[in-house]
Amino acid sequence: MLQNIENLENPSNSNDSNRVLKYHVETYGCQMNVYDSEIVSSMLEKSGYVKTEDIFSADAIFLNTCSVREKAEETVHNRLINFKGLKRRKPHLLLGVLGCMAQNLKDSILESKPYVDVILGPDSYRRLPEIIKSRERLEDHFVDTKLSKFEVYENMFPSRKEGVNAWISIMRGCDKFCTFCIVPFTRGRERSRSIQSILDEARNAVEQGFLEITLLGQNVNSFNSPEGKFPELLDQLARVEGVKRIRYTSPHPQDINDDLLQVMSSHDNICNYIHLPLQSGSDRILSRMNRTYTKKEFLELAEKIRFYMPDCSISTDIIVGFPGESDSDFQDTLDVMSIVKFNSSYKFKYSSRPGTKAAEFSDHIEEDIKQKRLDEVIELQKKITLDINSTYSNRVVKVLIEKNSKKSDSQWSGRTDGNTWVVFDKQNESIKDFVDVKISGTKGVTLFGEIV
Ligand code: SAH
Ligand code: SF4
Ligand code: F3S
Repeated sequence: MLQNIENLENPSNSNDSNRVLKYHVETYGCQMNVYDSEIVSSMLEKSGYVKTEDIFSADAIFLNTCSVREKAEETVHNRLINFKGLKRRKPHLLLGVLGCMAQNLKDSILESKPYVDVILGPDSYRRLPEIIKSRERLEDHFVDTKLSKFEVYENMFPSRKEGVNAWISIMRGCDKFCTFCIVPFTRGRERSRSIQSILDEARNAVEQGFLEITLLGQNVNSFNSPEGKFPELLDQLARVEGVKRIRYTSPHPQDINDDLLQVMSSHDNICNYIHLPLQSGSDRILSRMNRTYTKKEFLELAEKIRFYMPDCSISTDIIVGFPGESDSDFQDTLDVMSIVKFNSSYKFKYSSRPGTKAAEFSDHIEEDIKQKRLDEVIELQKKITLDINSTYSNRVVKVLIEKNSKKSDSQWSGRTDGNTWVVFDKQNESIKDFVDVKISGTKGVTLFGEIV
């Protein structure tokens, strides 16, 4: 929950040097940012800072930001405007903008919000201890948005919240340059960690009690290290003792090959789940997006995945209203959705990102058409998800218990290895137990049932 800053009456403004200094981090955007925030936390804690969720008692506040769509940037701009008053009343507060917006919009942030003290791009977090140390002397802004060809935060163990799943970032950056996407500009070139350091981090996570590992990267399956590529990494990780489930996100369809599917199907602890971003079903639009596959190739890939793993869940990302998208192009997207029958999908209206190639196209689509198409894909996906989830009725699925259900403390919530959430009444289990659940019904994207 974000706190409302404008109601602030008496913020603590103590400069007592014996006081424990506190930091607060807010994370926007994708899981890579969540992971990066854990790295940032770990660095701040090594510098003697203690985490707080209370912005009013924080001595340093960092926003880890996202630029992927206009709305994501707006949210952070508004949050920063909120912080202006806090900063006025508490001048020693250190206010920092991290992540993709820092990279993308440093000049405009400094111009419109001169009270921001620190701007660090995603490859510059190692500078935090030095900034913290010199904070009393920090008279001017501190800006570092150099992108690195090498920074992978090797051996920087993140400060993880307790839980079931540990995120491990294995590569950073993107070289694909889809024409709609800002990520290659905010995150820079692809680079991978060593397999060894990833295995070490996984072992460390298991020791801390995590059962599930989710590998992260902007283009996770183009992982490439001297010791091997993505399939080799998965194969070795699956053999690490205590790793009960492995997931990864986000892959690019172009880099899903037989080797990878072979490894996935040969280890029980690699989940039967692939996120396979479609974006569009139209060859013309896919080519303008620079997505490197055709509708036919995508459909064949989905078939191949199900050949290797018949039970595999597939989710996707869809963009509607890309420049030049005609009714018939859009129909192709609906077509692929109906044929592949994705278990779930993330659906977006195209958002023009200055600096990308597509932003320069002359045939942008009107907002009301985008909205209409978005509504249509949402409706179709709802129907497909319901159809798929209804087939689970009376089937028994294995669920890893992850947390209390949102609606009731007397119910658990956990996921199948296909990434579907299941809610059921508690008996005598604990979080992190695997249980067999017989499915009785479905609502939205969730299955309901009872332990057998
Ligand atoms: N590397 C990941 C994507 C990261 S961005 C991949 O290739 O799958 C996550 C999703 O945001 C993308 O898959 C895309 O569907 C969406 N997205 C990216 N740029 C966008 C834009 N300009 N407008 C709307 N959606 C966008
Ligand atoms: Fe963006 Fe495409 Fe790279 Fe994904 S693969 S991060 S959509 S440029
Ligand atoms: Fe956003 Fe950057 Fe992730 S733009 S989606 S936070 S890589």
